Amino acid sequence: MKQIFLALFMMVAAFATAQSPVKTKVSLSDETLVLSNFDTIKLLAPDLKGGRPLMQAISNRKTDREFASRNLSLKHLSEIMWVANGINRPNGKRTVPSAMGQYPLQTYAVLANGIYFYNPKKHQLEPVVKGDFRNLAGKQTYVDTAPLNILLIAKAGSPTDNFNMAMMDSGFCGQNVYLYCASEGLKCVTRAGAKEAELLKTMNLDSNYKFILAVTVGH
Ligand SMILES: Cc1cc2nc3c(=O)[nH]c(=O)nc-3n(C[C@H](O)[C@H](O)[C@H](O)COP(=O)(O)O)c2cc1C
Repeated sequence: MKQIFLALFMMVAAFATAQSPVKTKVSLSDETLVLSNFDTIKLLAPDLKGGRPLMQAISNRKTDREFASRNLSLKHLSEIMWVANGINRPNGKRTVPSAMGQYPLQTYAVLANGIYFYNPKKHQLEPVVKGDFRNLAGKQTYVDTAPLNILLIAKAGSPTDNFNMAMMDSGFCGQNVYLYCASEGLKCVTRAGAKEAELLKTMNLDSNYKFILAVTVGH
């Protein structure tokens, strides 16, 4: 009797599976970003319920130095920029703390097709210079092919620029990206090295600006 029920159950299960094949739903935001033109990239609002729990992310945080050239999804790019230096409150304050609430850091995204400025108020990437300049974002070969290199740059023209504070602020941006990557299963490395002079010249930034920190992100 038991065997008959089991056989019946298996037949029903097989029929149900055949009638409703499992479909993988891929939303546009989960697809790999295609950089067909050099326009402003409107970033997606972060998914505040996404990712692994904080303690798991901290436990998984590590540096990687090998990256696939495959692009990030728009969702990942959007959330990485937001965790790095985005606005998380109506009063304009950020996902990262900043000494005296000055927010001296300018955040840039070096993508395969150009360098973009991250505008936190509009949560968008604005084109700065077209072309593949990833090799200027660092001195190690993986930066040339990784899909994203974030640059943190600040003014260091006079003592009132508080450049030392900007340097300290940058660590929080880097750590946020590390934890986000650990939570999303992405790879990253923060770096203090870049081909600074050539990079700043390419970005049309004058000698008042200094490169502080980069973060390479990818799969
Ligand atoms: C301020 C700072 C600068 C760094 N610069 C580089 C760098 O230029 N190149 C690099 O490969 N790693 C760099 N790293 C990553 C460290 O080498 C890495 O964090 C360290 O080896 C510990 O490994 P873990 O992050 O996996 O714990 C830097 C880390 C920090 C905090």
